Amino acid sequence: MSKDVLILGLESSCDDTAAAVLRGPADAPDILSSVVIGQADLHARYGGVVPEIAARAHAERLDLAAERALEEAGVALRQVGAIAVTAGPGLIGGVLSGVMMAKGLAMGLGKPLIGVNHLAGHALTPRLTDGVAFPYLLLLVSGGHCQILRVDGWDTFVRLGGTIDDAPGEAFDKVARLLGLPQPGGPSVEAEARRGDPARFGFPRPLIDRPGGDMSFSGLKTAVLRVRDRLTEDKGGLTEQDRADICAGFQAAVADVLAAKTAGVLEAQDGVTALAVAGGVAANATLRGRLEAVAEAAGLPLLAPPLALCTDNAAMIAYAGLLSFEACVTSDMTLSARPRWPLDKSAAPLVGSGKKGAKA
Ligand code: KG4
Ligand code: ZN
Repeated sequence: MSKDVLILGLESSCDDTAAAVLRGPADAPDILSSVVIGQADLHARYGGVVPEIAARAHAERLDLAAERALEEAGVALRQVGAIAVTAGPGLIGGVLSGVMMAKGLAMGLGKPLIGVNHLAGHALTPRLTDGVAFPYLLLLVSGGHCQILRVDGWDTFVRLGGTIDDAPGEAFDKVARLLGLPQPGGPSVEAEARRGDPARFGFPRPLIDRPGGDMSFSGLKTAVLRVRDRLTEDKGGLTEQDRADICAGFQAAVADVLAAKTAGVLEAQDGVTALAVAGGVAANATLRGRLEAVAEAAGLPLLAPPLALCTDNAAMIAYAGLLSFEACVTSDMTLSARPRWPLDKSAAPLVGSGKKGAKA
């Protein structure tokens, strides 16, 4: 088995159609291309991802994404050594589109097929970008995910915390909607918060004093709704300053909860080499600041991969596939799409569904 194998990765579990070409070996990986075709325009008018529209768009665009990725990498399809594809968790229609395309390619080329867990892709990204040694702790925070994971090996993950309701990105998006700010909510709430007073409304820090890694963000969103309605009733509407203060208060509460829970979990772990953060919410400067303090107090580096690799992409799927390939673990034509697929088989299932479908 050639160690400098070329892996074609495919990702279609939510609203990004992505393809990437990665060259091994896994201890010196090289991302030759990473193409992401977003679908925000298709879903914008519905206020969330519509699974049927997403699945159709993936089916229409996956070959285009793969073609572009191969072209940008300067690689011919026949040179690809294996096909890695997200096989779950996510929206079933989109995952199926990816799995079917990967099966067709693998069969046509006579090359191995590797079904990858989307969360493993996120969890292994700090190793792809920074070569961090196992075990490390990862806070994965996006519109669909909220988990604290200890990454012990390429296929060994322990879930030490997570949300019991909304994911933080989902909460940012809902708060933006409540305040009439544009989507995605994270960047617009963060921009408003810059001019705001985080202490004015004294928003709650749900579950912060409870031991363990459970988190909750839906009550915080309700607290924002109450403040908005009270101000509207009292004064007939929100001023610019009210909006900025609500955003600053909400953002500080989310960052405090995530930092406190991560610190608590980290304290109980021996021997982890780094704290890493991934997912779209990792772009938030207030959160990064809090996490830097947590890592520093624990004497660990904070690793935050570049944003394009933090959010959904296929390079992370190709990398997880490469690790699997090097361990001689591949899939066969019975590979199926799994809407739910927890990384940590021993952890209780996460409840609820986010915009990406089942939480895990
Ligand atoms: O990882 P991602 O691109 O897609 C999902 O898997 O969900 O994350 C998108 C989420 C959105 O909910 C968005 O509002 C949030 O990440 N986000 C942010 C920021 N930038 C994006 N949240 C807080 N602050 C930001 N600067
Ligand atoms: Zn994701």
